[in-house]
Amino acid sequence: MKNQNMNDWLQTAVFYEIYPQSFKDSNGDGIGDLNGIIEKLDYIKDLGCNALWLNPCFVSPFMDAGYDVADYMRIAPRYGTNEDMKRLCEEVHRRGMHILLDLVPGHTSIEHDWFRESMKAGRNEFTDRYIWNTNVWSDFKDVSGIAGCLRGISPRNGCCAVNFFSSQPALNYGFANPSADWQLAPDSEAAIATREAMKEVMRFWLSLGCDGFRVDMAGSLVKNDPDSAETIKLWQDFRAFLDEEYPAAVLVSEWGEPDKSLQGGFHMDFLLHFGPSHYLDLFRVEEPFFSRRGKGDISEFITTYMKNYCLTEGKGLICIPSGNHDMPRIAWKLDEKELKIAFAFLLSMPGVPFIYYGDEIGMHYLENLVSVEGGYDRTGARTPMQWNGGKNCGFSEADKDKLYICQDEDESRPDAEAQIQDPDSLWHEVRRLTALRKEHPALLAFGGFSVIYAEKNKYPFIYQRTAETETVWVVLNPSDREITLEKEDITQIPEDAEAFYHIHEPAVYHSGRLCVPAQSATFFIR
Ligand code: NOJ
Repeated sequence: MKNQNMNDWLQTAVFYEIYPQSFKDSNGDGIGDLNGIIEKLDYIKDLGCNALWLNPCFVSPFMDAGYDVADYMRIAPRYGTNEDMKRLCEEVHRRGMHILLDLVPGHTSIEHDWFRESMKAGRNEFTDRYIWNTNVWSDFKDVSGIAGCLRGISPRNGCCAVNFFSSQPALNYGFANPSADWQLAPDSEAAIATREAMKEVMRFWLSLGCDGFRVDMAGSLVKNDPDSAETIKLWQDFRAFLDEEYPAAVLVSEWGEPDKSLQGGFHMDFLLHFGPSHYLDLFRVEEPFFSRRGKGDISEFITTYMKNYCLTEGKGLICIPSGNHDMPRIAWKLDEKELKIAFAFLLSMPGVPFIYYGDEIGMHYLENLVSVEGGYDRTGARTPMQWNGGKNCGFSEADKDKLYICQDEDESRPDAEAQIQDPDSLWHEVRRLTALRKEHPALLAFGGFSVIYAEKNKYPFIYQRTAETETVWVVLNPSDREITLEKEDITQIPEDAEAFYHIHEPAVYHSGRLCVPAQSATFFIR
């Protein structure tokens, strides 16, 4: 069921997440850039992705890969110029695609001018732009929603709250339940000034041509807000502003609690690798559900998914990403055969799928890399895209030692060019699945969803997707065992349902029994 305010293009959207520094270097300086992204738009479109999410590409000291913004209104010179961004947006639109930028509203870099001003001892316009207490000797230990503090760094007597790393001071949107003088209310003058400043940032990029934002740590803006009521209100105010000035602007949240984020006016929310979603059970635990060992369990994921799905149906969308820049890659524990079944799942679930660059070719997660730009254990999921078998895998013309991050040196590393030449490759499977999704209304974002078979510690996983004109049943058996289900387990699937797409061997439905081959995905239709 579709929400009235939902942008139509989300129904058919398949996103591709680009980590700009590692995607394509167009000028040989060893780091990816916007013109490099423009060069590769046709590749992304050809894969069947029609929307982009770009990680932050604004001026930054890159102590957290750009999630530490020093100037919200300027593209980091290493990526190009604001003009290049404008051109990128135009090129994206010319291809009928859309683009979301990354909005980091919760904190800035310590190098942002606002922060420099706020560090001063005398009062000025930015004194309350960040959350400061009034005593340098007392930190924020007991204040909920604050990750740590910066202190002793300036003449100002007080500690400044940080949101993530110590270099990311927290912007001040107020406290839901203020319990000290320095804790301002969300409707205080200073908190309102912060929110208005963030609206200016949104205005700036939306008028330059982007289609909306992925919002970083969206659920954490108002502090000491245990039920998120004030943070939801804050987002409703942002949404009201957008509805007024940029009604088509799309927002997707890094929040992980869709029942809350969608109330705040987000169109979509991610299931994340942290929080209660059990997302990790699918691909990234010791025994993932999608491993051929068949020792995984999808039931807890499904229980929480269904809870969220029922709370949000008709109000917005839940996004299940293949991965992102914050977690090990999906190929960490799965091989190519297993990945094909995993993608059959990712590309046939409701909501909007997100493919992290390189996952479509099964790029590896490199363990134990020395941290680059605040990556730490995330660094191994951020190595340069492998385009071909040439110099630096086609990522950059720079000398190898000039690359800002190391490449996967493994001889067996996958690359896009080789996979495009091989019709049996993961790349082609992903491409066929994105096409299949678009051909079948039941498989699209708003198509109905119900679970047919998802038993604890058992395989296969079967679900139904519906549209007015068709019903599709997806039968996934990642395990290396053939399984036969009897009629009573699958009463919802009519006997005349027809298998119309499969990966590896098709499941066979005959005389009331469904025989599901090992490591297979089959789509039935009626
Ligand atoms: C979430 C982002 O995805 C992550 O990369 C970043 O480090 C933190 N938020 C802090 O902004």
